[in-house]
Amino acid sequence: MRLVMLGLPGAGKGTQGELLAQRLGIPRISTGDMFRAVLKSDSDLGRRVKAYVERGELVPDHLTVALVEQRLAQADARAGFVLDGFPRTVPQAQALDEKLLEAGRPLHAAIYINVPQEVAIRRIASRRVCSQCGATYSQEQVAADGSCPACGGPLVQRPDDSDETARHRLQVYLAQTHPVVEYYRQAGVLIEVDGQRAIPEVLGDILAALSARQQDVEASGGR
Ligand code: AP5
Ligand code: MG
Repeated sequence: MRLVMLGLPGAGKGTQGELLAQRLGIPRISTGDMFRAVLKSDSDLGRRVKAYVERGELVPDHLTVALVEQRLAQADARAGFVLDGFPRTVPQAQALDEKLLEAGRPLHAAIYINVPQEVAIRRIASRRVCSQCGATYSQEQVAADGSCPACGGPLVQRPDDSDETARHRLQVYLAQTHPVVEYYRQAGVLIEVDGQRAIPEVLGDILAALSARQQDVEASGGR
């Protein structure tokens, strides 16, 4: 399956994207994770994207689209993918559509995890990430010693999760990314779920909607 995750920063795109990728046996491709890895790499690309990511601004479309196209060309993405954090502008969505249509492999669905802004802000403030294995938790899920339940590594806050930068990311989302939700609604591929439910329930809602959608497509003779 070829899927896109949409939603406010903190909505749960990474959380649900990872669960879906495991369940469907396809890679989760997170542009945020890719940029954070590039930042650590002391490369030309790292120096170019640093200021944008640290300020909570979007990295320019041409850099982002090129990075995603390279990633989608890798062998593991042939069976499908879950894109998390991309596309984030209408031109990014158009570039993705063009590439996928060229290859005769259009998107199956764009999954929009809908949460109010105050929930997103609360979740971002509570998020802790393992600096060793990259797993993500909320503060309530972790022990008082601040170590990762999966690998024992140290848990940290993402630098762009400071209150000020997180609020700026929300504004950037509303101005530049929310139109992408309407773009996919118009294209007839949008699945909207209530992101305020518990993690397993949100996953269940997404899987049920994907399966209903697949049955509709098959009934109408499509693929
Ligand atoms: P990115 O890493 O994509 O950040 P984001 O979109 O701001 O999203 P987040 O990762 O903050 O939230 P999420 O929705 O993944 O939530 P999560 O699952 O962690 O991008 C970072 C930066 O990279 C951007 O600002 C930009 O600079 C750059 N960038 C990336 N992509 C780009 C692009 N395409 N173009 C240009 N620039 C780009 O969940 C949040 C917390 O809530 C966690 O603690 C989790 O445990 C908890 N949680 C999740 N679900 C639930 C639930 N149902 N109930 C309770 N708690 C929950
Ligand atoms: Mg994320």
